[in-house]
Amino acid sequence: MTALPQHIAFIMDGNGRWGERRGLSRLDGHRAGVKNIRPTIKSLHSKGVKYVTLYAFSTENWNRPADEVTGILNLVEEIMVVESQELHKNGVRLRHIGSLEGIPAKLQGLINDALKLTAANTSMTLGVAFNYGGRAEIIEAVRRIIQSGTKPAELNEKKFRDYLYTADFPDVDLVIRTGGELRSSNLLIWQTAYSEYYFTPVLWPDFNEEELEKALQAYSQRERRFGGLNRKSHA
Ligand code: IPE
Ligand code: IPE
Ligand code: MG
Repeated sequence: MTALPQHIAFIMDGNGRWGERRGLSRLDGHRAGVKNIRPTIKSLHSKGVKYVTLYAFSTENWNRPADEVTGILNLVEEIMVVESQELHKNGVRLRHIGSLEGIPAKLQGLINDALKLTAANTSMTLGVAFNYGGRAEIIEAVRRIIQSGTKPAELNEKKFRDYLYTADFPDVDLVIRTGGELRSSNLLIWQTAYSEYYFTPVLWPDFNEEELEKALQAYSQRERRFGGLNRKSHA
């Protein structure tokens, strides 16, 4: 039986459809999705999961209609202060996974405040992938490696990892994607090289503790080989 994942990444997909299916707006769906973050973190925290990444907004999500993008940015701005205080109360360290480029100045300030507020917390690390793209992250890392003057022969996987946004996170053990799509959509492409994937048609605002249990149960049945052999066939 595989132990509890140390790092779980969520692709919180299906907010828009959740709103549309109820005759509401896509933005209502995003609002419901944001509301579902707090109870999810609480469940993960009580189970003892140490690292969680939430995919909140991708570099490709800028391609959506301007009113949806603005709506999402406003929503994040609205909840930043209260939610970061809640995280702080629970000893959670918040990390931003992604770039601040293109984010409105006020929201940048709120993000930086939240990072500072929670920086010394140790009970859980929550990475929020916001304005994040896996390919963009790798290009950014390569740029900084070149700038550092690292010689080609000095570069290895361990060193490369230090230039990623997730330098101090362990690799992702389990990716949970809600909303029914069977793809990674550019999330943590380096860090998920050997991750287990769990897909569910449940839309993100409906994802709950019971669904989390199902995902953890599925994970516990997986055999991770990392290119090696399983114990039985090896014996
Ligand atoms: C995920 O929900 C949240 C973001 C990408 C910001 P979607 O907005 O993609 O919801 P669907 O997939 O259209 O239902
Ligand atoms: C992935 O969802 C990004 C987030 C959940 C933030 P998308 O809805 O953007 O993914 P695609 O477009 O279906 O691949
Ligand atoms: Mg989607």
